[in-house]
Amino acid sequence: MRQNHIIWHPATVTKTDRQKLNNHKSCALWFTGYSGSGKSTLANELDCQLHKLGIRSFVLDGDNIRHGLNKELGFSPKDRVENIRRVGEVAKLFVDSGQIVMTAFISPYRKDRDQVRKIFEEGEFHEIFIDCPFDVCERRDPKGLYQKARQGIIRDFTGIDSPYEPPLDPELTIDTQHHSVKQAAETIIKYLKEQNLLPN
Ligand code: ADX
Repeated sequence: MRQNHIIWHPATVTKTDRQKLNNHKSCALWFTGYSGSGKSTLANELDCQLHKLGIRSFVLDGDNIRHGLNKELGFSPKDRVENIRRVGEVAKLFVDSGQIVMTAFISPYRKDRDQVRKIFEEGEFHEIFIDCPFDVCERRDPKGLYQKARQGIIRDFTGIDSPYEPPLDPELTIDTQHHSVKQAAETIIKYLKEQNLLPN
């Protein structure tokens, strides 16, 4: 039975205290795009560059989270909604802990991404569209999954028999077809500095 008598326990050390200790702000960088568009690769490269700069960062990756926290979830619309809801909540905890968190999930539904945006404070949630044409992602097919989906071995595959709704007004769009991973990560670091999320 659902427990309704739950009262929020306030923390004495605040998010601002934690950010001061880290000497940088905290935020969520929400990567969205097709499978094979480069979300995980870019998030990992950015994590490396931030780490070298002494920034506390972490990556939440779709494939990895689906090995643990979300291991019982599949790819039906209902499961994808729950996947994104949970990741949104975890990302918020990371932001509350004073870190820069990058999430690499297809997150195909606009409504779910907008819902996640709403749980954050103004300026904490940054939607980054990893923009790579569908046919290029399919040709890359880094995990051989597009081929399996075309053969009907995998069902509900994003872009084949499951939809992808690109962001209408993302904070940032990264074209991974024409830019290297390193260039893309540098573009995001520049953006973070412009937004005063990182010290200049
Ligand atoms: S999401 O749609 O719920 O956001 P998520 O990012 O967690 O998806 O997982 C996507 C990853 O799972 C893909 O990169 C791919 O490796 C794998 N995958 C397995 N089956 C599917 C499927 N039916 N559709 C999309 N990705 C799938």
